[in-house]
Amino acid sequence: MADRIGSPRHILSVTDVSRPWLDALCARAAAITRHPTRKPLTGRILATLFYEPSTRTRLSFEAAMLRLGGGVISTENAREFSSAAKGENIEDTTRIVEGYADVIAVRYHERGGAARAAAVASVPIINAGDGPGEHPTQALLDWFTLAREFGTVDGLRIALVGDLANGRAARSLAMLLALAHGVSLVFIAPPVTPMGTDVKAYLDARQVHWEETTDLRGALTDVDAVYMTRVQKERFGTDLDAYQAARIYTFTPDMLSALPARARILHPLPRVDEIAPEIDADPRAAYFRQAHNGMLVRMALLEWALDAHE
Ligand code: CP
Repeated sequence: MADRIGSPRHILSVTDVSRPWLDALCARAAAITRHPTRKPLTGRILATLFYEPSTRTRLSFEAAMLRLGGGVISTENAREFSSAAKGENIEDTTRIVEGYADVIAVRYHERGGAARAAAVASVPIINAGDGPGEHPTQALLDWFTLAREFGTVDGLRIALVGDLANGRAARSLAMLLALAHGVSLVFIAPPVTPMGTDVKAYLDARQVHWEETTDLRGALTDVDAVYMTRVQKERFGTDLDAYQAARIYTFTPDMLSALPARARILHPLPRVDEIAPEIDADPRAAYFRQAHNGMLVRMALLEWALDAHE
């Protein structure tokens, strides 16, 4: 795959990604099966170093590595059960773990955590979420899902809904969508947690159309995809008033009639109360397909990071 990500092959930010690289990644993910007969990562080891909770990202990375023939070492609660609890910084932890593993997926509780690891690493570092910063592999699987559901991401009108100030998945997806031609973005966020000015400036510099509203119901009628996100409770600290003020969006069953038949509902998950469970049976609800796509995209990513493509 063509890339401008450098060596080692880190995945730190969607801003490092090019469209040809992204198209090649998606083509590879589409070609991969859940039970590949070829095991290109046999003998290689992935370390998952997670300082924050996860279900999808950690387990799909680990499943991806195992399905490609590799092995996994893991610390799933690194703040409590790794030597971070004794005061070790992420740079030193990385220097140690790179001696054991060929690639490291890091989820850190502060913005820039994966970049700090990459600055000292001689093996690929994959940013599996850095505080309220970015979640690039989520955005890659979101793009793949949109491409699978619609045939192309180009030209789509996409609403991103919820706590957009703190939601790293929405932040990364918005910036990745700058690689699509003719997309139109609608940011639907409570006044207390609007999409960041850094993301808006990034889109402006690339002439990506975006608009902002607080009216979810009104916006639904002309979108292709609505990307719901949860309120990032862990980012509010003791400010419970702001947390309560941010909890204003739920996709309820009565909204389905306003949503175009061609549209899709996505969510990076986990959901709390942003999508009523009754929505799940609607064919436009794509969020479980989206989560399953994550393993395929991460299989393709691990192959690329370890230079094991066919
Ligand atoms: N979407 C996502 O990052 O989910 P997890 O927190 O479960 O990994």
